[in-house]
Amino acid sequence: VPDIDGAKVAAHLDELNRIATANGGNRAHGKPGYQASLDYVKAKLDAAGYTTRIQQFTSNGATGYNLIADLPGRGDPTKVVMLGAHLDSVAAGPGIDDNGTGSAGILEVALTYARSGAAGDKGIRFGWWGAEELGLVGSKAYVASLSTAERAKVTAYLNFDMIGSPNAGYFVYNDDAKGSAISAALKAGFAAEKIATENVDVQNRSDHASFKAAGIPTGGTATLSLASAMSAAQAAKWGGTAGQPYDPCYHQACDVRTNVNATALDRHSDVAAYAAWTLTGVKATPAA
Ligand code: PHE
Ligand code: CA
Ligand code: ZN
Ligand code: ZN
Ligand code: ZN
Repeated sequence: VPDIDGAKVAAHLDELNRIATANGGNRAHGKPGYQASLDYVKAKLDAAGYTTRIQQFTSNGATGYNLIADLPGRGDPTKVVMLGAHLDSVAAGPGIDDNGTGSAGILEVALTYARSGAAGDKGIRFGWWGAEELGLVGSKAYVASLSTAERAKVTAYLNFDMIGSPNAGYFVYNDDAKGSAISAALKAGFAAEKIATENVDVQNRSDHASFKAAGIPTGGTATLSLASAMSAAQAAKWGGTAGQPYDPCYHQACDVRTNVNATALDRHSDVAAYAAWTLTGVKATPAA
């Protein structure tokens, strides 16, 4: 599995930050900063050979957009592993940790997968969701749009929401019994990085819940749990600050470019790649 270049993930995050700054300070549903974020991600994927599709929905009186990307010719398209992240921010700020990090991380995983020539037994698909912050609206619309046959083709959905929190933890979702193989792959990825993980039950508070509700196996990683602060034991093993929140700028105007732990973001991105390669069953990666 290739190592994801943390500098490239950071460059995507720089661009999302620039977009927020140029568009009134946010990338929220229905706002120009959301559209510009979508345009940025789509252009990168199109240039890399992805087949992209924009799906529209309506929420709160505004049109919302999901971005779906398939990579043709790489594995069985009737058995697909899907990675996703919400691309919208809250209106209060630019949403760089929440969820520029997940959006940038899976974008670089997608670009690396395409560039590497990787081909597994299974196909690969990526999704960037709109209006997560309004109640998982985009991901619910996507799952609702799938026929029973199309749903059955999605063998796994992996979610990345907040993977660069400043006071970072290394959490793997454990709230889906059907997702045990996904959680195992994510944990194996962290083990390869020599990072200890903890399970987290994120209480259906991100887009994987839309897939889980439809019976699709899900999993994911995050740098935060639902606890209000990092524990002393967590700080001892992960090097953070006990008694402080994982992300002190969560849903605030200060969730800016500096509100990110670059090391944590790189590691979670590496682990997303590890799971993408192993779950699609890539046996050998041809030279790029
Ligand atoms: N989905 C939440 C939000 O966007 C945050 C969250 C991330 C919750 C990861 C649980 C796990 O605000
Ligand atoms: Ca890396
Ligand atoms: Zn989020
Ligand atoms: Zn949020
Ligand atoms: Zn790494």
